[in-house]
Amino acid sequence: MSMKGKAIYKGKSKTSQDLILRYPREEDLDDLLGYINTLSAEQTFIRFQGEQLIHEEEKEYLEKILLRIKEKKDIHILAFVEDQLVGKGDIRLRDKIDAHVGDFGLTIAKDYRGQGIGSLLLEKTINEAKKNLSGLKIISLGVFGDNGIAIQLYQKHGFVEYGRLPKGVFRQGQFVDHIYMYKEI
Ligand SMILES: CC(C)(COP(=O)(O)OP(=O)(O)OC[C@H]1O[C@@H](n2cnc3c(N)ncnc32)[C@H](O)[C@@H]1OP(=O)(O)O)[C@@H](O)C(=O)NCCC(=O)NCCS
Repeated sequence: MSMKGKAIYKGKSKTSQDLILRYPREEDLDDLLGYINTLSAEQTFIRFQGEQLIHEEEKEYLEKILLRIKEKKDIHILAFVEDQLVGKGDIRLRDKIDAHVGDFGLTIAKDYRGQGIGSLLLEKTINEAKKNLSGLKIISLGVFGDNGIAIQLYQKHGFVEYGRLPKGVFRQGQFVDHIYMYKEI
């Protein structure tokens, strides 16, 4: 069965609004473009720091991830509150000698943080990965050394630091460590 648009969770947010977690589909293109460009402009704890993507670039990205989901190489789960895209969680399988390792990513839109959506999305994304990414044994992630909220969240969900690249991140005029964490599943 196709995963396109498939819902994996329906519930209520802390503010009693409809919260849906689901796989992406082609029609999400404009939402995804707005989502990444807003996060980038915010210059939060992600790789994009103000760079803006154009429609064509996001279209290519979406086509690629839809294919990788179909091939059971990636999990991407979108969070919607009342039809607004407010979060994204993903796990991308590596290949060859580390095809048992998946790289994890998580973001929540600014106005929707601190409501438990990040924790929920983390859990559900990992759960989907366990079910659908055969051979996955280790989940790995990178987090900026000054992102205390994310580090705590990951620790609470069983992630352990396995290394850090001192000054591996240059952001807002400062060098901070890039911390790497993992969890065996
Ligand atoms: C990190 C992030 C994904 C967390 O998502 P979230 O929905 O805000 O997190 P939750 O509401 O599920 O909260 C997770 C934990 O962090 C705590 N927390 C959240 N926001 C907080 C804040 N502003 N101050 C202190 N603690 C906070 C919560 O209390 C919760 O802890 P608990 O489980 O012990 O109660 C989100 O803040 C985010 O997208 N930040 C910007 C991008 C980013 O940093 N991504 C991660 C890159 S590695």
